[in-house]
Amino acid sequence: MPKRKPALRQATPNQPALSGRLALITGANRGIGLAVAQALAREGCNLIITGRDERALDKARAQLEKLQPGKRNAYVLAQSSDVRSPVSVDFLFALVRGLHKPLDILINNAGIAHPNRIVSELPYPTWMEVIDTNLNGLFLVTQAALAVMKRGCTIVNNLSIAADRVFPGSAAYNASKHGALGFTNTLREELRPKGIRVIALMPGATDTAIWDAMWPKAPRRKMMSAQTVARTVVNALLLPDNTTVEKIVVMPSAGTL
Ligand SMILES: NC(=O)c1ccc[n+]([C@@H]2O[C@H](COP(=O)([O-])OP(=O)(O)OC[C@H]3O[C@@H](n4cnc5c(N)ncnc54)[C@H](OP(=O)(O)O)[C@@H]3O)[C@@H](O)[C@H]2O)c1
Repeated sequence: MPKRKPALRQATPNQPALSGRLALITGANRGIGLAVAQALAREGCNLIITGRDERALDKARAQLEKLQPGKRNAYVLAQSSDVRSPVSVDFLFALVRGLHKPLDILINNAGIAHPNRIVSELPYPTWMEVIDTNLNGLFLVTQAALAVMKRGCTIVNNLSIAADRVFPGSAAYNASKHGALGFTNTLREELRPKGIRVIALMPGATDTAIWDAMWPKAPRRKMMSAQTVARTVVNALLLPDNTTVEKIVVMPSAGTL
C-alpha cells in the first residue's frame, strides 16, 4: 500500500491548526515570549506562561485568554518561576505533570542581557547572572521538560544571532548564547531518534525591553517587532510532523545595528 503523505497542520474555519496543544513559554510576561504566547493563543494552544514579575504575568494571562478561539475549552496558566532556580523549576513542572497531558511545545525564551562593558570591566556578578539565566536556566527547564515530552513535540530555544557571531562589549551575553547553541545542537541530535524536533531561534535586533539594559539609546525603529519573530516560530510549528526547520535566523533586512 502506498504510504500516506504527512499532512500539513491545517486550520479549518472552526479549528485553528494547533488547537488543544499544550505549550509552555518561559519569560512570557513581555517581549518576544509574550508575542509568541499571543500567536500560539490565536492558534488555539493551551498555554503555561512563566516569568518572575507576577503582576506582568497576570496582565499577560488576562490578555492571552481573550485571544484564544474556543475559549470555553482553552486555558492559560501563569506561574511565577525563576529559570535559575532548580526548586522553582521543579515546582513549575509539578504543575505541568498535574495536567496529565504531554507538553507539545516548549519555548525556552527567558533571557537577559547586560550593559555594554569590555571584558576587563565586566563585573563577575554580571557574568554569573547572565550565564545562570541564559545557559544554566535553559538546561534546567529543558531537562525537566523532557520527562513530559513525547514523539511529535517541539522545543524552540530562543538564542540570538549572538549565538554564532560576537558583539564587542557583550562577552557574557555572547558566551551564554554560544553555549546555548552548542546545547541546542546536541539536544537536537539526542532527540532526533525520539521524534522530538529542536529548533534554534536566532533573531537579530528586536524592539523589546531587553535593550533598556544593553543599549538604552539603540535605534528602535531599525529593529524588528516581537510579533515578526513570533510569526517565524508559528510557521515552523505548522510544518508537517516529518519536517523541521533546525535554525531560524531572522533579522532586520538592513542588517545588524
Ligand atoms: N530583543 C532582542 O533584540 C533579542 C534578539 C535575539 C534574542 N533575544 C532573546 O529573546 C529572549 C527574550 O528577550 P526579549 O527581547 O523579549 O526581552 P525582555 O522583554 O526583557 O523579556 C525577557 C523575558 O525573560 C524573563 N526572564 C528574565 N530572567 C528570568 C528568569 N531568571 N527566570 C524566568 N524568566 C526570566 C522576563 O521576565 P521577568 O523579568 O519577569 O522574569 C521576560 O519575560 C531572550 O532570551 C533574549 O536573549 C532577544
